[in-house]
Amino acid sequence: MKNTAPHSTPVTTQTLAQQKAKGEKITMLTAYDATLAHWISEAGVDIILVGDSLGMVIQGHTSTIPVSVADVAYHVKAVARGCRGPLILADAPFMSCSNSERALHTAQTLMQAGANMIKIEGSARLCPLVTQLSEEGIPVCGHLGLRPQSINQIGAYRVHGRHNTEAETLMADVEALVKAGIRLLVLECVPASLAARVAAACAVPVIGIGAGVDVDGQVLVLHDMLGLTPKPPRFSRNFLIDVPDIPAALTAFRDAVKSKQFPDTEHQLS
Ligand code: KIV
Repeated sequence: MKNTAPHSTPVTTQTLAQQKAKGEKITMLTAYDATLAHWISEAGVDIILVGDSLGMVIQGHTSTIPVSVADVAYHVKAVARGCRGPLILADAPFMSCSNSERALHTAQTLMQAGANMIKIEGSARLCPLVTQLSEEGIPVCGHLGLRPQSINQIGAYRVHGRHNTEAETLMADVEALVKAGIRLLVLECVPASLAARVAAACAVPVIGIGAGVDVDGQVLVLHDMLGLTPKPPRFSRNFLIDVPDIPAALTAFRDAVKSKQFPDTEHQLS
């Protein structure tokens, strides 16, 4: 598929739901500045994630824990100035949604900075918060599987859901979060077969990272897919290696996801 025209109208939560219904794969990349947001828009990518991965790839930390709401808001504002078309998804950083008051303040800050949706890492414990934010008019994206903000508890960045209990807890979390009102779900580092099960059962689009091809879309961290990360995760691919420049790499990512050529078996986890 070579159809990389930028979006002529802004991508919304409704657009994403229609894409899932039609079986059209959804594309998402991280970005942290206006220039890259411009080129990602030009490539016709559907969602820009201002992820707390900025703590690692922009700020040089070893985890996402030190990232603040002010840090994410700063980068959302920059991205919003360059973005034309993609939906802007902003990460709620570590502990910024630990209670209802903090969550409302975090969401207000990020939405007023230019985000269209907020992503929160966490289990079914988040359900009351998801419902409350949704009622305030804030679309929420869940984030299950590997949850990098919990690195100090889980001990290592590892595949999540290989064992039966973990897999069944994941399925129950998905069901509860969907019922509570999430509009999108990011699923990180989950065996491809389990991710496929989640996407089939889930009423909202499921975007995978290290979760195989049988989900509703794919997200990669920009620095990984441009070959800038010294030790990139096994499930990522360098899209700049075969093309002359960054705009072409962004288009190659979009095309590979839309045509289901990425991830291939080499870039999926089991
Ligand atoms: O912060 C981020 O970039 C993310 C992706 C890994 C999905 O949450």
